[in-house]
Amino acid sequence: KSIRIFCPATIANLSCGFDVLGLCLDTVGDEMIIHKSAEPGVRITKIEGANLPTNPEANVAGVAALALLHEWQTDFGFDIEIYKRIKAGSGIGSSAASAAGAVFGINELLARPFEKNELVKFAMKGEQLASGNAHADNVAPALLGGFTLVRGYNPLDVIRIESPDELHAVVIHPQIELKTADSRAVLQPTVPLKKAIAQWGNVGGLVAGLYTSDYDLIGRCLHDEVAEPYRKALIPAFEEIKNVALQQGALGSGISGSGPSIFALCKGLSTAKAVASGISVVYDRIGLTYETHISTV
Ligand code: HSE
Repeated sequence: KSIRIFCPATIANLSCGFDVLGLCLDTVGDEMIIHKSAEPGVRITKIEGANLPTNPEANVAGVAALALLHEWQTDFGFDIEIYKRIKAGSGIGSSAASAAGAVFGINELLARPFEKNELVKFAMKGEQLASGNAHADNVAPALLGGFTLVRGYNPLDVIRIESPDELHAVVIHPQIELKTADSRAVLQPTVPLKKAIAQWGNVGGLVAGLYTSDYDLIGRCLHDEVAEPYRKALIPAFEEIKNVALQQGALGSGISGSGPSIFALCKGLSTAKAVASGISVVYDRIGLTYETHISTV
């Protein structure tokens, strides 16, 4: 018995929701094929598109799969083939796609002993391996789809959030690698009270805007006091891209996850297309290669 899975890319943080908000992209992702095998344990039998370890204990998909099987023991095992399309260090959840895909697929082959929400904690083990930090804001939307909020980490409490029909996400990925661990290293350990007040006002407002389809409110909330001020220097032409996105009608724009990808949220596909072509011009001019993706939310 086998399963073939699309493992979606994701945008974490969404500006104000550092480590708690994320959304799932439906147009970009990896593929994975998982085979049930008579031999117990987990094996990574094939990796295409990336140079990654095949030792399951050193591979994010392997570690996540082993975490699940630690709680649900079986006398058979799983062989995993990974076809990477999301580049490592892109800021759109490459490691999360692998971790989430592995636990999702194995859970299906086991006839779903776990709810999707419960799979998040296993997939987080992959994130821990990849970045040294078990954040869930990429794996949660990869598993649940749409927008998700990690309400709490201890205990883990993941909530799926409704979003308006016309909302589109644009992502531009300059073809440089930025490791999450490096872009976490520039952050400050404490947040001044004034900035914290602004941040939680925006998180609450963004969730309210998503539920009430209030696009203006969504746009007013896409600001980040916590990570963007420190991370933007790591991303080529960040301010210019952001300004062009806003000029072309984006509701808001910011760093996708830990970068270097930049995202913009837009109302309607035609605005999303205008934003995608506007921001492409900036990287064309400075001679940086890039990929752009447009996705419904
Ligand atoms: N919330 C994480 C960070 C996402 O910003 O470091 C990493 O993809």
